[in-house]
Amino acid sequence: MIELKGRKLVLGVTGGVAAYKAAELVRLLGKAGADVHVVLTEGGARFVTAVTFQALSGNRVWTDLWDPRMDNNMAHIDLTRDADAILIAPASADVMAKLTHGLADDLLTTLCLARDCPLLVAPAMNRQMWEHPATQRNVAQLRADGVTLFGPAAGEQACGEVGLGRMLEPEELCEAVIGFFQPRLLAGRRVVMTAGPTFEAIDPVRGITNSSSGKMAYGLARACAQAGAEVVLVSGPVALPVPAGAHRVSVRSALEMHEAVFAALPGADVFIGVAAVADYRPATSAEHKIKKSGAELSITLTPNPDILADVAGLPNPPFCVGFAAESRNLDEYAEGKRKAKKLPLIVGNLVQDGLGGDDNLVVLYDAAGRHPLPKATKPDLARAIVAHLAGLLPQV
Ligand code: C5P
Repeated sequence: MIELKGRKLVLGVTGGVAAYKAAELVRLLGKAGADVHVVLTEGGARFVTAVTFQALSGNRVWTDLWDPRMDNNMAHIDLTRDADAILIAPASADVMAKLTHGLADDLLTTLCLARDCPLLVAPAMNRQMWEHPATQRNVAQLRADGVTLFGPAAGEQACGEVGLGRMLEPEELCEAVIGFFQPRLLAGRRVVMTAGPTFEAIDPVRGITNSSSGKMAYGLARACAQAGAEVVLVSGPVALPVPAGAHRVSVRSALEMHEAVFAALPGADVFIGVAAVADYRPATSAEHKIKKSGAELSITLTPNPDILADVAGLPNPPFCVGFAAESRNLDEYAEGKRKAKKLPLIVGNLVQDGLGGDDNLVVLYDAAGRHPLPKATKPDLARAIVAHLAGLLPQV
């Protein structure tokens, strides 16, 4: 996944124990395609050495405003000249106070003052330092100055205390940076989605299920959240982490999914049915494990409700998006489903290589016709689907 390809980031690392996490952050940002240039403050260099960051970023590390390696001796201008953002992680209470007042007494703060790009700050400090009125004043001022804050999170701290002030984990910060660069196409919209398979119990230990990795749905939830939407992900059993900014409601059966969807629906602008809902469930589920007898056993199946069709059939439905995974005749079947379920948009994909892969080939069908998307990874496809659906939403 090269979602930060072509992005130049200046990463400021200040003096805090969370500086050790900045090393992993450099690795993750680099893996996502970013060109990372680390600027260490004097305090930061007491926790992690420049050698670590140089090895991980593949770039020189800067610490000194007067570094003679910079040809024109203007490190404070040159380093951010073509940068897409400065990220400070960890950002100490001290650096935040300096930024608030426009102090420029070292390389990092001078870079921030002389920059022509967004400033992203991931605070990391003791709970009491974070709660101090002086820090809170600085936070409010930084926000008013257009600085973006990531975190802090609550939890256990290095000092042994528990509370707000922990730096976000490197994975969360990398996700936040990726999200920062996405267009806010769904800002202010509420999106409800279904994901994964459903599991229909036969008895307490057995059931009928569909094959679904949930990757497409979770990727779409992530893309919607990164586009600024409030996302509710009603999910059947899958082993995937909840994307940042999405709220998961875990369910098992189709009936539970139906109920959870309708509970989440009020105020929704968009409903996306991605789940591979089991079409049938056992008419009865045995209270105890069915014993093996050697004789034939029949299970009577009864149809499950069609969640998507029920939502789309509401008097004032949200904008409904369906998925159609077909093994042949994609155009005919997908468009047929779109019309039958009264959907403004359906995402069709031809299942040739089985389900659960990382790449996908999809075609979008709407009232204007058929729109094939180029073969891409699921995250890229998810973004393309979000862009298409955002363009079809009624303006608010
Ligand atoms: O009719 P079919 O199952 O092929 O339609 C697939 C679409 O309908 C998907 O978007 C799926 O999430 C949704 N669906 C549903 N409830 C069902 C069956 C399918 O929401 N019971």
